[in-house]
Amino acid sequence: MGPVDQWAADLAAWAIPQAIVDAAPESPWFHDPAAFAVNDTLVRHSVSAVMAREALSPLGTVLDVGVGGGRASLALTPEVRRIVGVDSNVHMLASFRQASESLGVPALGVLGSWPDVALEVEAADVVVCHHVLYNVADIAPFICALTNHAIRRVVVEVTTGHPTSAMNAAWLHFHGLVRPTSPTWREAEEVCIALGLEVDAQVSPSTATRATVPSSVAFVRRRLCLPESRDAELTEWLAAHPMPSSGEVATLWWPGAARVR
Ligand SMILES: C[S@@+](CC[C@H](N)C(=O)[O-])C[C@H]1O[C@@H](n2cnc3c(N)ncnc32)[C@H](O)[C@@H]1O
Repeated sequence: MGPVDQWAADLAAWAIPQAIVDAAPESPWFHDPAAFAVNDTLVRHSVSAVMAREALSPLGTVLDVGVGGGRASLALTPEVRRIVGVDSNVHMLASFRQASESLGVPALGVLGSWPDVALEVEAADVVVCHHVLYNVADIAPFICALTNHAIRRVVVEVTTGHPTSAMNAAWLHFHGLVRPTSPTWREAEEVCIALGLEVDAQVSPSTATRATVPSSVAFVRRRLCLPESRDAELTEWLAAHPMPSSGEVATLWWPGAARVR
């Protein structure tokens, strides 16, 4: 199996058994827009920001795919002339619009799933895409569309392992379920190489600071499909098995291939 098919197979293995999903009081896949909002913790000197800014100079345009609240692209201000943010979640886009307005950056939000909406979106000097790839099973068209929309560079950031892998021990404890350990950023890099991209990569400590603490009982309870009635047990378990609040991220970057200007 090649890296592209391996990626899809690895992600499919993360599916939560249907019986557990059916019994869950809340959707385990909910992303709280508040957790991805831009606030005063925006980090402007992360490896990903430095790599993007290098290709933006002097005052370039940015396309941010899976924009969320805009933390990836708004960290590049003031070197940005305009940002287009694409997201399939209308609440995330509203948060992005609000943040770009308060920072005074010209911005456009496009509602839709990438790459389905790619034809509606203009190329930009730099395309950024942070913390989205582990959601994307059909990775080849997704990455090709990023590349074809970048005039100078694509910068992708992912956690080094699957974002919920910190909860693997908890899944085993509360559901007796062994969770996968792949894909990781290495498999993402292999996909890029298989697609013929001249990809560079750097691993660095995560600089993410979010409004919602990913180790909070409410957050973990929801992800684990547990009812509130198990909170006391979960609190005790988390106290004995603390989750890392932030780990490492990998920045992957490669040259863009957009023909237009
Ligand atoms: C984990 S959040 C990251 C948000 C932001 N990039 C950040 O780093 O703070 C992932 C975002 O990608 C969006 N998303 C996931 N898959 C997408 C797709 N195929 N097309 C557009 N948006 C997508 C989700 O709605 C969510 O807002």
